[in-house]
Amino acid sequence: MGKNAKKALLSVILILSMLFTFSACATTNPNQSKSNNQTSQTTNTSDNSGKIKIGFSFDTLNLERWQHDRDYFVQRAKELGADVLVQSANSDSQTQYSQCQNLIAQGIKVLVIIPHDGSAIAPIVEEAHKAGVKVLAYDRLIMNADVDAYVSFDNEKVGELQAEAITKLVPKGNYFLLEGSPTDNNAKLFEQGQKKVLQPLVDKGDIKIVGEQWAQDWLTQNAYNIMQNALTANNNKIDAVVDANDSTALGAIRALQEQNLAGKVAISGQDADLANCQLIVEGKQSMTVYKPVKEEATKGADVAVALAKGEDINANGKVNNGKIDVPSVLLTPVAVDKNNMVDTIIKDGFHSLDEVYKNVPKDQWPKQ
Ligand code: BGC
Repeated sequence: MGKNAKKALLSVILILSMLFTFSACATTNPNQSKSNNQTSQTTNTSDNSGKIKIGFSFDTLNLERWQHDRDYFVQRAKELGADVLVQSANSDSQTQYSQCQNLIAQGIKVLVIIPHDGSAIAPIVEEAHKAGVKVLAYDRLIMNADVDAYVSFDNEKVGELQAEAITKLVPKGNYFLLEGSPTDNNAKLFEQGQKKVLQPLVDKGDIKIVGEQWAQDWLTQNAYNIMQNALTANNNKIDAVVDANDSTALGAIRALQEQNLAGKVAISGQDADLANCQLIVEGKQSMTVYKPVKEEATKGADVAVALAKGEDINANGKVNNGKIDVPSVLLTPVAVDKNNMVDTIIKDGFHSLDEVYKNVPKDQWPKQ
């Protein structure tokens, strides 16, 4: 080989090895860096891996529960041989829409969406279908669209569990309803479930609903403001708060605490977030609704892969979204208070005993 030919061969080898290093970096999944509340996404856009690509659009990753959903979903999809591209819209409908378009453009087979606004996101379903992409509504329904599947919990039941627990503790008195985000269809279902239980007691005259408000984007701060105003407007004469989830319960409890009412006013929640489980064992929050997120995320990944392969999704129900009955997989929520904390959340490994009882003197910890 001549000197020039040798030089040329060396250059080719060098370029090839640089290209290889670059593509190895590009397929590293930044999710593994566990940046919890940041937008995270895989950059694996290679189509020739033969792997199924799933796009997952989160409303937000700022709440503890959605980080669990992401981790379990990605893990299960991996086991099934699929790659997941994750995007978080930071509670903004427009951002979510363009992130979904971007995911579709990256050659995904299935688009999984937790909508910020179940109506605003609806037109993406048709766009996805035109590109041959199936759409799975995850946890929250997408309204008035030809959604291919829905994986969630029985959300009306969640509301029933909340109201049942609170009415058991406070059978008579003044009730305040602190509902979730008005753009989330689930929030409406939680309210429906709560009212199913509350209405007969209102009709009997046992309880009086002194106010009801919706916390935009499920924000703790919004819930705090609402609760503070409600307490002022009612001269602190509120005996129970039916609160739709844990992030809003945190805000409401802060407002109650400022009036020395934390622990005296019954209050519900949902999600079994760590901070709220701690408040439950400290006696400041009455209950939460535990929705085994691992089960939901695992089912979600199973359904997404089944959709990608054109297989049956094993639906166990249908939920109407205003346009069609969406084939659905619905799981069962569990009411959790001080008494069954160990047998549910801790037994499942969702949180450890040490974490949950952190603020309780050790001699008062339950025997396991
Ligand atoms: C979910 C709840 C969650 C809430 C706020 C709802 O759609 O079902 O689990 O607490 O959104 O993110």
